[in-house]
Amino acid sequence: MSATITSIAHYLPPDIYNNDYFATYLETTNDWIMERTGISERRFAKEGANSDLIVPAAKECIEKRGITPNDIDCIIVATVTPDHMFPSTACVVQNKLGIKNAWGFDLSAACSGFVFAFVTAAKLVESGAVKRVLLCGSDKMSSIVNFQDRSQAILFGDGAGVCIVEKSDDPEMGLLDHILRVDGNGGQYLNQVAGGSFKPASHETVDKGEHYIFQDGQPVFKHAVVGMADVSVEIMKKNNLTSDDIAYLVPHQANLRIIAATAKRMGLNPDKVMINIEKYGNTTAGTIPICLSEWNQNGKLQKGDRLILSSFGAGFTWGSIYLRWNMNN
Ligand code: UT7
Repeated sequence: MSATITSIAHYLPPDIYNNDYFATYLETTNDWIMERTGISERRFAKEGANSDLIVPAAKECIEKRGITPNDIDCIIVATVTPDHMFPSTACVVQNKLGIKNAWGFDLSAACSGFVFAFVTAAKLVESGAVKRVLLCGSDKMSSIVNFQDRSQAILFGDGAGVCIVEKSDDPEMGLLDHILRVDGNGGQYLNQVAGGSFKPASHETVDKGEHYIFQDGQPVFKHAVVGMADVSVEIMKKNNLTSDDIAYLVPHQANLRIIAATAKRMGLNPDKVMINIEKYGNTTAGTIPICLSEWNQNGKLQKGDRLILSSFGAGFTWGSIYLRWNMNN
């Protein structure tokens, strides 16, 4: 028995900010941003919360599946930008969609959020504990980005990807394997230090900018290059997959150079790598489901395609998934 994605959709806010926008007030250039990150533009939501990115994608996803909201019995939201510290964004989404008789929770694994949450959703389905999970990977990074810091302002974007996870009609399809890892020693390099119980919000934390993202880019970059490639190659070996077997690598979109290094270690040509970082930047938990949804929408995914999903993020958290796509185009 395996669990699979049976419907998928995404939502990106309409307002586009290109690299020249940052060059108007920060010491940066389009060339620097393109060369170092591969990002050309990103979307920022001018109003609303993370749940307002999730809800339109969720509605489309449920409608495409031909079910009603009440057919969902569990909601998982992977995010580092929840609407509130509590209650969970899963509760907000449940209420906004009017879903009855469901339970749900948020999952915090930063850029690996979707990968961790997908495995969680699949195991809940496989165990028979739930029938249909509304699985949301979504972040409104503009709510925690320091727009005065050129080393982070240019990296992130807002966006949501939502899918439904349920039992696969074919046990050879859907989520077939995973490798997931955490290393808390990496927390020092990428975090949001204040606002939790360690450092509750105060005048001092606001004055020091401690509610913004803190990132020491280089160590994160170095660990990401190794971590993402290691688990991607390991899952290929574990499942006797060659690069010819793989239709696409679906990597977290943090930096084009990290993606290229991972693809190279896997022996994959660039045409077998889902890349949309140039349009959306790093939407954290949103990147992987947005890629899957876009490729599906554009008819570039075929039933039976073997995919490797791969991520690296704050924590550190990282992981890979071996997925056989089980949706008709
Ligand atoms: O998704 C979560 C995980 N996060 C990641 O995977 C991000 C990993 N890290 C990275 O992608 C890269 O480290 C960055 C894109 C954040 C930075 O690129 P880098 O090549 O590592 O640059 P750097 O931090 O070593 O900085 C090089 C120089 C510095 O100037 P000095 O000290 O050499 O004078 C920076 O101040 O580039 C400067 N710099 C910029 N210059 C122009 C940093 N940001 C900018 C900018 N425009 N936007």
